[in-house]
Amino acid sequence: MLIVQISDIHCGPMFNNGKFRAAIEEINNLNPEAVIVTGDITENGVLSEFKIAAEEFKKLKVKKVIYISGNHDYRSTGYLLFKQFFPFSQVTDLGDAVIVVLSSARPDRDDGEVGHRQNLWLENTLNAYKDKFRIVAIHHHIIPVPDTGADQITIVDAGDVLRSLVQSNVDLVLCGHRHRPWKWEIEKMKVIHAGSVSCEKLRGFFLNSYNVIEVNGKDAKAKLKIVGGEYLDFDDITKKREFIQIPETYHGDSLARE
Ligand SMILES: [Fe+2]
Ligand SMILES: [Fe+2]
Repeated sequence: MLIVQISDIHCGPMFNNGKFRAAIEEINNLNPEAVIVTGDITENGVLSEFKIAAEEFKKLKVKKVIYISGNHDYRSTGYLLFKQFFPFSQVTDLGDAVIVVLSSARPDRDDGEVGHRQNLWLENTLNAYKDKFRIVAIHHHIIPVPDTGADQITIVDAGDVLRSLVQSNVDLVLCGHRHRPWKWEIEKMKVIHAGSVSCEKLRGFFLNSYNVIEVNGKDAKAKLKIVGGEYLDFDDITKKREFIQIPETYHGDSLARE
């Protein structure tokens, strides 16, 4: 089963339309079971950005698309618009796998929070799907990653949520938010962070990318796909102190913008 994670589209001033459309075309050709969009679909949470984003996402021809809100989407009371443009269900049963969404964005705040009640709900939900490959998707980080500055990037209740995830033996956690691809493993749980698929603001890894995850029973292999480029192993990304890879043919994102 193939699942794709795209993140941090940022429709607005730093949105690279050409990169987004190229990624959507690649993903349509992959024909995954589901696409998980881990937040920051817009830059400022304003109506014009939501309209552009909804129009762009019509090009994605995949059976299931799971939208998650990010802190940028909730700016300027965008939380009122998000649920109209991108309705989503918190649990998606794919047969052998289940995707559980945690909502961490809060109105007009950049920091994220799961909250006690949602965390209890998470534990109960994960328990109900014990036999499946369990994926939890969230916009904010539950563990810090390198190159992401001094801002508060992990959810404020990261410790509580981490304990629930690890004790529930979750197989895979997918995060977005900081535009830095990364992978951690805690006990048997893989935590994959997405880069940005179409935003010009990148950190530590200077190409737009998305994640392609192949689920085989209780095992999953995640690879990073550069938009318009090659596949990379996460081990190659995390083992290098610096990963600066800019092809000679690359002339900057602004020229590719439509
Ligand atoms: Fe973002
Ligand atoms: Fe974010």
